[in-house]
Amino acid sequence: MRSQPADSVFIRACRRQAVPYTPVWYMRQAGRSLPEYRKVREGVPMLTACATPELVVEITMQPIRRYGVDAAIFFSDIVVPLKAIGVDLDIKPGVGPVVETPIRSRADLAVLRPLEPDDVPYVAESVRALVAELGGTPLIGFAGAPFTLASYLIEGGPSKNHDRTKAMMYGEPELWHALMERLSEITLAFLRVQVEAGAAAVQLFDSWVGAVAPDDYREFVLPHTSRIFAGLADLDVPRIHFGVGTGELLGLLGEAGADVVGVDWRVPLDEAAVRVGAGKALQGNLDPAVLLAPWEVVERRARDVLTRGRVAEGHVFNLGHGVLPATDPDQLARLTDLVHEASAR
Ligand code: CP3
Repeated sequence: MRSQPADSVFIRACRRQAVPYTPVWYMRQAGRSLPEYRKVREGVPMLTACATPELVVEITMQPIRRYGVDAAIFFSDIVVPLKAIGVDLDIKPGVGPVVETPIRSRADLAVLRPLEPDDVPYVAESVRALVAELGGTPLIGFAGAPFTLASYLIEGGPSKNHDRTKAMMYGEPELWHALMERLSEITLAFLRVQVEAGAAAVQLFDSWVGAVAPDDYREFVLPHTSRIFAGLADLDVPRIHFGVGTGELLGLLGEAGADVVGVDWRVPLDEAAVRVGAGKALQGNLDPAVLLAPWEVVERRARDVLTRGRVAEGHVFNLGHGVLPATDPDQLARLTDLVHEASAR
């Protein structure tokens, strides 16, 4: 009998069950560090690629073939559901998401209508095709969390300090919460489409929420992320929550309802386990820049991550953020083997 994603090492680790070795996958494992990715993307805009099931399947599979990782991450982008409901935005190479008309007032909210499954037929189609092709390897669905999406929508593009975002959060809390409610419903609907089509786990990326202090997180962000995680509970898939620079927020990310808390490279995993508390698994957390150093350095650092990760009730090895474009794919292939061998029990 073919093994099922639910029995896979990755899903078992997320559920804090016994595993024969520590599972591993990499954020941004598909993408610009792979020559085969650059080849299939030649002349195809990012958002076109995301809406073309043939390309989504091929690009999602590329790192599986090359690295032997324990999970696939769906090839898409956090702005795909916003584009699908008609927000005028694009992804500019080397820049990121750029929004034509930023959201700054109550009237601007009108563009954020609810997402229906029919808005993203190519997502369900791609997920179904991938689940068939992956066999027992689990597929991770994902979405951007409301704070990170709000930042792109309010700023109009990538931002260092999220000034306008915080200005709305502090200065116009009612508008802020109305925006966050709409984004939460869109995000929840987008994640449900992926799980109902066969994704075995989900990751909610709140990449930029580390800009917010803990008390403000509790007041302005947590009610919305909690609503998303609660809205997924009946689907019974592990829920991973990740953000960058969230050392002070790790406990709250778990409290919001995640089963697995993603940790960047700034907090060692044994310390993160204390901050997150009982009943959660951890994911992380090798600094992606370490992969640019000689292999001996990668090996030493990766072994340290594994040792510290043993303190957690469950550990999924990953980087502390996405694979950097300059990374040599051979380093990642070697790292995958090392994680499997060094953690075997
Ligand atoms: O392999 C994977 O992880 C799956 C694919 C994936 C992409 N984006 C593909 C992508 C995932 C999970 C994302 C999520 C995403 N998108 C996040 C959260 C994760 C994180 O990195 O914190 C964020 C903040 C975005 C917004 C975004 N989209 C940025 C900042 C960029 C980079 C812009 C650039 O070119 O430097 C994108 C574009 C993007 N998303 C690319 C890819 C492969 C590059 C586009 C290209 O190759 O032309």
